[in-house]
Amino acid sequence: MTELTAHAAEDKKLVMIVDDEPDMLAMLRLTLEKKCGCLVVTAPSGLKALELLGECSPDAVITDIKMPDLDGLQLLQRIQAYDHTMSVIVMTGYGTIDMAVQAIKDGAYDFLQKPFDKDHIVRVVRNCLERTTLLRANRNLKDKLERLAPPAGFVGQSKAQKRVLDLLARVADTDATVLIRGESGTGKELAARALHDLSNRRAQRMIVVNCPALPENVLESELFGYSRGAFTGAAHAKKGLFLEAHGSTILLDEIADIPVQVQTKLLRVLQEKEIQPLGQNRTIKVDVRVVASTNQNLEEKIKNGEFRADLFYRLNVVSVVMPNLREMVEDVPLLVHHFLALFKREYERPELEIAPEALRLLYRRPWPGNVRELENTIKRLVLSAAGGRIEAEDLEPAAAAGPSLPGDELFTDLDALSYNEAKAEVLRRFSEEYLSNLLARHQGNVTSAAAHCGLERQALQRIMRRYGIISVDFKQR
Ligand SMILES: Nc1ncnc2c1ncn2[C@@H]1O[C@H](COP(=O)(O)OP(=O)(O)OP(=O)(O)O)[C@@H](O)[C@H]1O
Ligand SMILES: [Mg+2]
Repeated sequence: MTELTAHAAEDKKLVMIVDDEPDMLAMLRLTLEKKCGCLVVTAPSGLKALELLGECSPDAVITDIKMPDLDGLQLLQRIQAYDHTMSVIVMTGYGTIDMAVQAIKDGAYDFLQKPFDKDHIVRVVRNCLERTTLLRANRNLKDKLERLAPPAGFVGQSKAQKRVLDLLARVADTDATVLIRGESGTGKELAARALHDLSNRRAQRMIVVNCPALPENVLESELFGYSRGAFTGAAHAKKGLFLEAHGSTILLDEIADIPVQVQTKLLRVLQEKEIQPLGQNRTIKVDVRVVASTNQNLEEKIKNGEFRADLFYRLNVVSVVMPNLREMVEDVPLLVHHFLALFKREYERPELEIAPEALRLLYRRPWPGNVRELENTIKRLVLSAAGGRIEAEDLEPAAAAGPSLPGDELFTDLDALSYNEAKAEVLRRFSEEYLSNLLARHQGNVTSAAAHCGLERQALQRIMRRYGIISVDFKQR
């Protein structure tokens, strides 16, 4: 390991000193190594300093102003453009004080005036290093937050959803083929878009092919293109969608029902990375990232001979399974508020609110059509709300019908679950019912609700959080 890279491993700060006077370099090196406990790298000129910057990424740079090739002010500018967290101190001698003032205006941290007072140098350098540390910690935090922020369009905080977003972010920048599975309305297309937007192919448009929408004979020619006269009616050559997606991503939406003939051709594209337009002998190399989606059971289709197993394995390199709304039920209130805000803006109903009881019913009702169904429901409610508030009565009877769970409902639909899953499900149903009634009785006052149910306030709040129950939803307005 060189001295230049050692500072990272040792966690010592690294200071670069730039001066064309060797004596000055030696004196400052000695002072800083001894009194600041930092590592020092020296550069005899501005240009040499620039060369070393990328190599060692110092925490601070102390530079003379007057230097032959690149002066201190120019070096400062270049450093700031390179990495604004790198703090710069300029050294001034007789006759350069104006330039030092300019340097401060340009963003230098401080200046040192020759001849030096060693204690002063140590103080200034220490403070300057502290500034770098703070700026870098701040930058790291920002980067981290950006990485954690969900890709555009996704709303939700549940573990189930975070797991999916995490996986999408991890595989986005690879060229791996991805199969997105999930019930209808769970956000499969949204996930494909997020994958594309997070990938290095994002500058180009993602091509979406809605497979079932195209008749069997058209699908093949749409995907791979054809030459003029390839079949009756082919008056012009057509560039296929795969070629259009060159350098980008293609989403094969609802892939389960594509004819076996097209499956065979698709397999070939995935294996050879080339297409053969209809009516042509030559093949064309394409660079396309393939993402496919389905809400069907492909394994079952393979068993029935309706889907090629080899194509399935080629598509399923990365498998993303979108959670249904039952698995992310704690996201329902967030999603309701998200769509409410969206449609209030779209339909110009800024004053519209939702009654706590209505929200509660939305939270508790089943959503077989998942997020899409919830989105459509909110849209309908916004469009049809007569007053300033969406009331429980505005909800369709199916949703409004379930304020209390009769005993046997507590135990329905458990057969397919393991013992632990079933137990968790019953506990969830019971807790939601119990807590909703409790909070409704206490008008959302958690302290009073806790006192009456024999739980500590914090314990009650913990359980409410677990089941996505929010006290303000029960407050009388
Ligand atoms: N987590 C989410 N946050 C916000 N909006 C979502 C979320 N998941 C899905 N949506 C929205 O729900 C709607 C349905 O999503 P999408 O079309 O991606 O689902 P899908 O799984 O492809 O559905 P289908 O199987 O019906 O084709 C879209 O309007 C989408 O923006
Ligand atoms: Mg879809």
